[in-house]
Amino acid sequence: MSPSLVTVAYIGATILFILSLGGLSNPETARRGNLFGVIGMTIAVLATVFGPRVTPAGWGWIVGAMVVGGTVGLLAAKKVQMTQMPELVAAMHSLVGLAACLVGYASYVDTSTVFATPAEKAIHEVEIYVGVLIGAITFSGSIIAFGKLSGKIGGKPMLLPARHWLNLAGLLVVVWFGRAFLHAESIGGGMVPLLVMTAIALLFGVHMVMAIGGADMPVVVSMLNSYSGWAAAATGFMLSNDLLIVVGALVGSSGAILSYIMCRAMNRNFVSVIAGGFGSGGGAPAAGGGAAQPAGEVSPITAAETAELLREAKHVVIVPGYGMAVAQAQHTVYEITKLLRDKGVSVRFGIHPVAGRMPGHMNVLLAEAKVPYDIVLEMDEINADFPDTDVSMVIGANDIVNPAAQDDPASPIAGMPVLEVWKAKTSIVMKRSMASGYAGVDNPLFYKDNNRMLFGDAKKMLDEVLAALRA
Ligand code: TAP
Repeated sequence: MSPSLVTVAYIGATILFILSLGGLSNPETARRGNLFGVIGMTIAVLATVFGPRVTPAGWGWIVGAMVVGGTVGLLAAKKVQMTQMPELVAAMHSLVGLAACLVGYASYVDTSTVFATPAEKAIHEVEIYVGVLIGAITFSGSIIAFGKLSGKIGGKPMLLPARHWLNLAGLLVVVWFGRAFLHAESIGGGMVPLLVMTAIALLFGVHMVMAIGGADMPVVVSMLNSYSGWAAAATGFMLSNDLLIVVGALVGSSGAILSYIMCRAMNRNFVSVIAGGFGSGGGAPAAGGGAAQPAGEVSPITAAETAELLREAKHVVIVPGYGMAVAQAQHTVYEITKLLRDKGVSVRFGIHPVAGRMPGHMNVLLAEAKVPYDIVLEMDEINADFPDTDVSMVIGANDIVNPAAQDDPASPIAGMPVLEVWKAKTSIVMKRSMASGYAGVDNPLFYKDNNRMLFGDAKKMLDEVLAALRA
């Protein structure tokens, strides 16, 4: 392929990647967005492999690497559970970081590039130094994030004394060695500062993520997603590959925007997330129950009584959370929804932006179960309707429906926007026990007069509700 044809292919791929990101922002267009991404990536790979910078001698290596990488990816994608998605994503980010480091070292030792001026050489070396720096932080930070999310490393934040000073000292040493790297006379001479900086960057990545508590880990994964984008962009600069620069910048900026949106939905300040310390649970804190002790009396309800309430209701709002994902109850939720709608009951869903463990977690599950998109509403779209709702049914959700976020300024989740399910005539909370949710705080919703608790695994209880509705 001629260089101009490659440029045209790269522009086409860039447009497809932008369309892909746009499509992924909505469940209705997500499938199309994914397809655009696949086509864009295919064009990008083909244009690169058959472009002027890869000789046919290298094709064997590329195909071999693609077969190995593709097989590993395919097996991982088949094996991973939906709730393990964040840790898989963290593991993938570590590979982007590692790739940036390896490309950095390879282009440093590669003597085939001839630079027209010393300034051009210096720019290339800055690209290598910064690329390896971002890559190493992303690599080690993502591995620790993977460990924390999968429960292999404890979720408790590790807060070293004077940790901010340690980070600052690390930064100064990196800048100092950067100078030595740029002034090195030979490749051998530059290798020492490059290796020292890589070691510091690896330690910094570990330290940064170790200091962050379990409750903030998903934000950290999104932040590392952003870092991996910048690492890819840095790789693009090192290889003078425009497409990699553009794609890296797209991933970097969209990851940063997502981190910001998640922080806002959890009422957390991005800087304080990065500074660390909040949330002490493990990789999946809700599963183990939280630290808070239940306070008050609750009114239990049976599946048959729940079915009766639903049958008599005119307006029902279902609020799904992490527990629905764990129980894989979405298909039964769909069956119940269909049955009630056939009987003339209005059923809608209220989705909190951080319900579950990853952005869009609930939307994906409901779409998989074929729940129509038009009855799945965002928190802001449905919150005002709770006073006119007969039954609000909370399925395995906890923090996102906690009234303490509004009523208790001392609560760790104070200020977090929540779904106001308690404003319905009756709210029903479906969960297995009185254990707290991800944030580890008690939920005063459970003790409200108009609230009923349907204890048990969400799938099992919903199957019983469905059977009672059909009876
Ligand atoms: P949580 O507050 O974690 O509550 C989930 C509840 O589900 C738990 O209290 C648990 O109680 C119940 N549960 C677990 N397994 C169940 C099962 N098999 N059947 C029935 N119930 C089950 O979840 P949420 O309300 O969805 O809130 C999400 C939390 O994650 C928020 O704190 C949010 O800030 C945090 N978070 C989310 C994200 C994203 S992007 N989604 C990012 C960062 C943080 P039992 O153990 O008693 O059953």
